[in-house]
Amino acid sequence: MAASGSERVAVEKCKGINGLDKVVLREPRGSTAEVYLYGAHVTSWTNDHGEELLFVSSKAMFKPPKAIRGGIPVCFPQFGSHGSLEQHGFARNRFWSIDTDPPPFPTNSKSFIDLILKPSEEDMQKWPHSYEFRLRVALGTGGDLMLTSRIRNTNADGKPFSFTFAYHTYFSVSDISEVRVEGLETLDYLDNLQNKERSTEQGDALTFESEVDKIYLGTPTKIAILDHEKKRTFVLRKDGLPDAVVWNPWDKKAKTMADFGDDEYKHMLCVEAAVVGKPITLKPGEEWKGRLELSAVPSSYCSGQLDPQKVLQNS
Ligand code: BG6
Repeated sequence: MAASGSERVAVEKCKGINGLDKVVLREPRGSTAEVYLYGAHVTSWTNDHGEELLFVSSKAMFKPPKAIRGGIPVCFPQFGSHGSLEQHGFARNRFWSIDTDPPPFPTNSKSFIDLILKPSEEDMQKWPHSYEFRLRVALGTGGDLMLTSRIRNTNADGKPFSFTFAYHTYFSVSDISEVRVEGLETLDYLDNLQNKERSTEQGDALTFESEVDKIYLGTPTKIAILDHEKKRTFVLRKDGLPDAVVWNPWDKKAKTMADFGDDEYKHMLCVEAAVVGKPITLKPGEEWKGRLELSAVPSSYCSGQLDPQKVLQNS
């Protein structure tokens, strides 16, 4: 029988806010994801009940060259202010293309899109390197959202380059003061609110009662965000991404951000799979891969699964 309506289309290219090109992914049980070509920016991920799982600010601008506030900005070739480039690099405010002929990459999903970014001449003046950045965004059959980045050094001058990176994921939460993050306790972190000073996290799971902006180093491959009120747990599984940034601007900083509502900090939390502590260096012809898999499960989730000894990443 012929598919009726757009619901059955696994991958649909269409226009989003302000006429920007976007791609909608759908999987048969009903989950969806949306990716803007501007920034290769995932702006929506819903479960099979149609509930939005990512936070996007009601004040997000969707106006280049401003990055979209919320969803999953891609930070490359620089995370934050850890270098001489603009904050979080430039990949999040470039127009990406659909990669029609990507190098083979296995997937079980029918609902995915491959995007590619190559430097413009203007970019080369800021960061004089030639690269191919391929991003695959895929929805798994259970509604998991999977992002795989492949970055290749295509420099013809024989020079290596180094970069830092993050999937700057904004999760939607019911109430930040009811949220717990498991998997980062007892780890070392750089505190962006204390001049990147290095400290060690104490105690149990992280909870939130004020601004936080920390880069946890050498983190497990699995991190969980438990939202008690929603009875939902987000599980992040990551590969090639040893660090994790935790950010919430809280009330004062929120008020200084033009594209963020004053009270919206209550309903979001960024937990960002990243490479910050030890930048990646690629020689010409070399490729790096960084993979993030997100699932949202009911909170019967057993926290014992997060035994760090079992999930420690070789980094
Ligand atoms: C986080 C950084 O990843 O992103 C914070 O650790 C920063 O320091 C935040 O404030 C938001 O950055 P931006 O550039 O999107 O406003």
